[in-house]
Amino acid sequence: MILVTGGAGFIGANFVLDWLAIHDEPVINLDKLTYAGNPETLQSLQGDARHTLVQGDIGDTALVNQLLSTHQPRAVVNFAAESHVDRSIHGPGEFIQTNIVGTFNLLESVRGYWSGLPEDHRDGGAAPTKGNFRFLHVSTDEVYGSLKKDEPAFTESSHIEPNSPYSASKAASDHLVRAWHHTYGLPVLTTNCSNNYGPYHFPEKLIPLMIVNALAGKNLPVYGDGQQIRDWLYVKDHCSAIRRVLEAGRLGETYNVGGWNEKANIDIVHTVCALLDELRPRADGQPYKGQITYVTDRPGHDRRYAIDARKLEREFGWKPAETFESGIRKTVQWYLDHPDWVAHVQSGAYRDWVQKQYA
Ligand code: NAD
Ligand code: DAU
Repeated sequence: MILVTGGAGFIGANFVLDWLAIHDEPVINLDKLTYAGNPETLQSLQGDARHTLVQGDIGDTALVNQLLSTHQPRAVVNFAAESHVDRSIHGPGEFIQTNIVGTFNLLESVRGYWSGLPEDHRDGGAAPTKGNFRFLHVSTDEVYGSLKKDEPAFTESSHIEPNSPYSASKAASDHLVRAWHHTYGLPVLTTNCSNNYGPYHFPEKLIPLMIVNALAGKNLPVYGDGQQIRDWLYVKDHCSAIRRVLEAGRLGETYNVGGWNEKANIDIVHTVCALLDELRPRADGQPYKGQITYVTDRPGHDRRYAIDARKLEREFGWKPAETFESGIRKTVQWYLDHPDWVAHVQSGAYRDWVQKQYA
């Protein structure tokens, strides 16, 4: 049994779906179901006894304590977070609350549970023990700040220099996780990943927003000069890296996850437009790139991220399965095939329905 937090969001849901496609080990999925969490993403698991979705907050100590003592997980994988940089600029409070205070409360609950586990197996069974328990914290490359054009990619020993309220809150949570290991001995692992893309990505983030807006005939808003660089990884490759670190990661270590796919934003938007021109041409025969509109830049916009993932490769032989070309084609096709999912996550009515179902 593992406890996953934030498993109704983009990466968490992909992780849960992949986990249960590979393993029979059950998952308790604790998710607050904010605007970014959608049970519909997990619809294929309805009636599957291996998956239990619980609506709740990682900061709700009573609930988390109860889940831990009832289900006795051997691991906690923490995806739960407020994740969108633009939202963190407009309203940082929720980011502080979930990403910092929530992580603190979660760590304290997990510490209480872990300290009550037996030292070792008495019967050679698979039950959790102090020694085999793991807390894996899912974090971001944004904690390292921004790179200049010719600087080498971030390694695990790069300085922590977050620039947005989002990245500062994630860096704070990473520090808490580190401290809970060094001070209390909690068996933690941290992953710092680059930009993900793929199925179930909420259409406020660059790639899904561009696909959805293009199809709706809307503007494709490119911030500033569009020359900012992000390092892209297909979400299922992030999930495979997390599984590997959970299995074999060295306690207290951080692992960078990335696919060596640095791209300027404007090139990403052109790629999306070209794929749509091929797969779903506009009715008037005009190219989608005509919808590109340069807009005011994001305040404090980080210029470049790039991840050096060689530690993961060296220690575990991990490599991404997708190239950017294969992953982006799959992603565009997925959005073309799932207009209902997009319509539902965008609709206020859907949010009301979620609140009612899980009230
Ligand atoms: P997301 O916004 O799509 O999903 C976040 C999930 O967490 C949602 O289901 C939401 O309902 C849930 N949640 C929010 N607050 C909660 C709380 N207080 N208690 C319980 N659940 C809560 O985010 P994502 O893109 O899937 O990111 C998941 C994790 O991965 C985050 O920690 C993020 O920082 C990290 N990360 C994301 C990326 C990326 O490119 N998206 C890259 C690296 C790391
Ligand atoms: O690097 C990992 C991070 O990647 C994660 O930790 C975050 O949770 C995730 O949201 C993502 O952050 P970014 O800010 O890089 O992602 P976003 O999709 O918001 O933006 C990607 C780039 O595209 C960024 O340079 C801003 C730009 N952009 C974004 C939007 C939404 C635009 O030019 N126009 C847009 O409309």
